[in-house]
Amino acid sequence: MTNPAIKNPRAEHDFVGRTCSISAVGSYVPEKVLTNADLEKLVDTTDDWITSRTGIRERRIAADDEYTSDMATRAAQRALERAEVDPADVELIILATITPDMPFPATACLVQEKIGAHNAAAFDVEAACSGFVYGLEIGQQFIMSRTYDTVLVIGAEKLSSIVDWEDRNTCVLFGDGAGAAVLQNRENTHGLLTACMGADGRKASILSQPGGGCLHPATSQSVSDRLHYLKMDGQEVFKNAVTAMTTAAREALARCELEIDRIKCIIPHQANMRILNAVGDRLGAREDQVFSNLQRYGNTSAASVAIALDEAVEQGQVERGDLILLLVFGAGLTWGAAVIEW
Ligand code: ACO
Repeated sequence: MTNPAIKNPRAEHDFVGRTCSISAVGSYVPEKVLTNADLEKLVDTTDDWITSRTGIRERRIAADDEYTSDMATRAAQRALERAEVDPADVELIILATITPDMPFPATACLVQEKIGAHNAAAFDVEAACSGFVYGLEIGQQFIMSRTYDTVLVIGAEKLSSIVDWEDRNTCVLFGDGAGAAVLQNRENTHGLLTACMGADGRKASILSQPGGGCLHPATSQSVSDRLHYLKMDGQEVFKNAVTAMTTAAREALARCELEIDRIKCIIPHQANMRILNAVGDRLGAREDQVFSNLQRYGNTSAASVAIALDEAVEQGQVERGDLILLLVFGAGLTWGAAVIEW
């Protein structure tokens, strides 16, 4: 029996008898730890500045020969094992990233080969830090429409490959890692109740990697102009992140007729502790409702909420039947919120 006390907005559509739930999650972070003390040796910064302005104490950095597809593969394998799904039964792989192994082919295709999911269609989604929730929403459309029964959604990043290690404004914030979720139709749960996605291309310039596309193809000039690194107006991003995540959260909760106190665990994009606190305050959430692990991983963009969800489950902060609110925000600008009955 699904819980009758929860309003499922999807039940109003012709999805009767169908749910899209997360059967299992998995994550992977590289072994190498880069602490704030290490960064003090690279740029003009201090542990105190980074900790007090961001909450971040350390982040993981992939090995030179470890790529986004490798981290995605490790996370996907863990999720598939826990869901007891044979890779051959995966029908679709959606991989969210802004740091693909290469512009093409899609990193999702590289992962398909590495995990042996040879029957799956595969493509990448590029919505920056919002990519995992965008991926969940896309994946659930395929499940609810009965196109596929098993979809793998992955968020994976090697941000250390596009961070400017001479720019103290940005290099202290980011880390590498991957998280994955297996989406399936499952009985006795509402699963993914709703997901909102939003974007505002008018603010595209406040967070971007200008070089490497057809606008600024790779040339010796583009390299010397440092166009292949991530550029960010931190304060603008900060303000927009708080507003967008709060608005998306309210919209998602309203669709399900839920108040914030019904949510067991809020998992926001792990960008900055001050952003998490501001969003939690505006939503009227208790401190213990808001999950954070950015102290250990920094901002891992598309991987961020996927890794956090995996840790929340592992730590027992989320149990089957609990309601979870995922909140994301990133370059584009893009944002999103998802309500899940775990
Ligand atoms: N160490 C020491 N000083 C620093 C550092 C550093 N690492 N970085 C910046 N500063 C200095 C600045 O130069 C500035 O000095 P000035 O006053 O002499 O000019 C001073 O600190 C204050 O800088 P602010 O930008 O005002 O600092 P703020 O409190 O806004 O914090 C930060 C900056 C942490 C970047 C914050 O704005 C933030 O977190 N923004 C959001 C970033 C984010 O979430 N980005 C990812 C989005 S997701 C995606 O799609 C990738």
